[in-house]
Amino acid sequence: MLIAGNWKMFKGVAEAASFCHELREADLGDVDVVVCPPYTALATAVQVLAGTDIGVFAQNVHWEDEGAFTGEVSNAMLRELGVYGTIVGHSERRQYFCETDETVARRVEGALAAGLHVIACVGETEAEREAGETEAVLRRQVSVLEPDESLVIAYEPVWAIGTGRTATPELAQEAHAFVKSLLDLPVLYGGSVKPENAADLLAQPDVDGALVGGASLDVDSFAAICRAGSRS
Ligand code: PGA
Repeated sequence: MLIAGNWKMFKGVAEAASFCHELREADLGDVDVVVCPPYTALATAVQVLAGTDIGVFAQNVHWEDEGAFTGEVSNAMLRELGVYGTIVGHSERRQYFCETDETVARRVEGALAAGLHVIACVGETEAEREAGETEAVLRRQVSVLEPDESLVIAYEPVWAIGTGRTATPELAQEAHAFVKSLLDLPVLYGGSVKPENAADLLAQPDVDGALVGGASLDVDSFAAICRAGSRS
């Protein structure tokens, strides 16, 4: 069971430091825990969480080691900081920053080759679900990925992200089972996971953890979600 907190564009160095100090002391139960701060707070998170089992992931990475790619950060740069892995292909990157299945595939491949762990995100929009295209979209997004022991998938229906609308446990289970039929890897659920709904979602047989956005920004709610995972 893996519970990952995606901080998105929240928390600078000072806030990250105090969050990670509190997280060290929190009761997280018996699950694997990862935090994904913005780039500027990665080094601080790694330092404050040193000596714990809590991993630090980035939210994105470029596939080249170095080069003329203004605004990008490489795997080697993340490794140098002690970062353990990265999210790739989050729907906000796909929606707002022109991320495509092809660039997702390159980022995933580059990160895995560099020895990072990867959470690769997939998920349909509301319009795609309503048009009955959910399986086709998931098939297309998953088809660019290859099995790897350092790769997990996050199923995040776009209509459930940051909206307070969570997929029902049954709907999540159905989508996870479908993703696993395409690629046999652990699948995290993401989209408005909260302490109140985490236990039911994480109890589903094919839900192997959660990628948590908003509710991961507060130590108490993030720890409560971790403990819910620990009981499932
Ligand atoms: P949310 O975000 O929990 O705030 O819906 C999840 C995500 O985008 O990973």
